Amino acid sequence: MDVTPIELKPEETARIRAFEKKVNHWVRRLDDRLEKLHLGGRKGRYDDENFEFMGGSNDGLRKKHYDKSLRLLWKAEDKVPWLGFTDSTKEEKLLHSLADQSLETAERSHLERMKSPEFRAMLNRAYTQEQKQAITNILSTIGHGEAYAWMVSTELLADTADSTGARAALTMQVMEEAKHFVVLRELILAFECPVPRLSVWEYLLMERTLKAKGLEKFFGMNVLVEGFALNLFGQLSVLPGLEILKLFHLDESRHTALPNNYFADKPMTRRQKHGIVKKIKRMLIIAPALPLMTFFERDFAVLGLDVYDFAGSMLRKVVHLSERLGFYLPLPGARLLELVTRDFNRRAERTRVSHTFRKYHTMETTQGTEQLAIEREVFQLSEAALAS
Ligand SMILES: [Fe+2]
Ligand SMILES: [Fe+2]
Repeated sequence: MDVTPIELKPEETARIRAFEKKVNHWVRRLDDRLEKLHLGGRKGRYDDENFEFMGGSNDGLRKKHYDKSLRLLWKAEDKVPWLGFTDSTKEEKLLHSLADQSLETAERSHLERMKSPEFRAMLNRAYTQEQKQAITNILSTIGHGEAYAWMVSTELLADTADSTGARAALTMQVMEEAKHFVVLRELILAFECPVPRLSVWEYLLMERTLKAKGLEKFFGMNVLVEGFALNLFGQLSVLPGLEILKLFHLDESRHTALPNNYFADKPMTRRQKHGIVKKIKRMLIIAPALPLMTFFERDFAVLGLDVYDFAGSMLRKVVHLSERLGFYLPLPGARLLELVTRDFNRRAERTRVSHTFRKYHTMETTQGTEQLAIEREVFQLSEAALAS
C-alpha cells in the first residue's frame, strides 16, 4: 500500500496511551470491587483480554449447534411459499428454481406450487370445520409456547451462556424460535378458525419456566416444553398441510439436545442435580402438564387421537432425558411414570364412554422412521427404553 503516513509527535502518542491505561486500570478495579461486594460491576460476561466469553471457546458446542443450525437453516419462502414470507436471498431463489426445473412434473410436490388461497382451499377439502378448529386449538398451544421459547432462550443467552460456543448455539436457538413463532402463526391463521388464548395450565408451565433461575430454565424449556413440542410435531406432521412441522421437529431436536452438549463441557454439581428444593421446583414446572393433557382430550379425540397415548409417549421420553441430564425429580422416573399412567387412566375412566386400562407410558405416537430415529438420538433412548 503506497501512502504517506501522517507524522505524529511520539511523546504525545505515548501520553495518550498511558492515560488510557491508567483510566482503564481504575475503571476495571472499581468494577471488580463492586462485583465482589455484589453492588453491580461489569454486567457483560465477556473476557476481552482473551477475546472470548468468560466460559472459554467451547468449540464443540458451537459446531454441534451453531454451525449445524446454519447448515440446516430453512427459509419459509422456500418451504411454505403459500404463507407469504420473503426471507430467501436472490441466490437461494435462483437455486431453488433451478432445482425445481430439473424435477419431472410428477415429482414436484403439490404443495410447493401452492399459493395461499389454494392452500386454504386444500385445508377445507381435507378437514371438517370441527377438525380445523381442533388443529387450531392444539397448534396454538405450541404457537404460544414458541413465543415463550423465544423469550426464555433470549434470557438463557443473556444470563447462562458463558462460552463462545454456548452463546453461538443459543443465538441460533433464539433465531429459530423467532422463525417458529412467526411461521406457525401464519400456518395457524390459514386454518381460519378462532385462535384460543393460553390455557391456564400452559400459562403456569410457561411462566414457571421463564421465572426459573439459571440452568433450571434448560429443564423447563429445552427438556419439557421442547420435548412436548418435538412429540407433537412428530405426531402431527403426517396430517395434510402440516408437512412443514417435520422441519420444526428437526429444529426442536437440536434444542432438546442442547443441555446434554452444554453439560458435557460444564457438568452440573451434585447439589444442582439432587437439591430437594430444585427437585420440588422441577415437579412444580411439570405438574400443570397433567391437567393440560386432559384439557386437550377433546381436540385430540376429534382427530381420532388419544391424548393420553401422546402424553404417555411424551412423558416417558422427557422423564428419561431429565434423569440422564441430572435434572432429578422428587420420585424416580419409573415410579413417576407408573403414577402418571394410573392418573391418566382415572381421568379417561371419568371422561370416556368406554375405557379399558392402558399402559400409556409405553406408547409411541411419533410417526415416521426418520422422526423416530431423530428422537431416539436426542432422548438417548435405547431400543428397549423407546418401546417400554
Ligand atoms: Fe420452537
Ligand atoms: Fe425450540
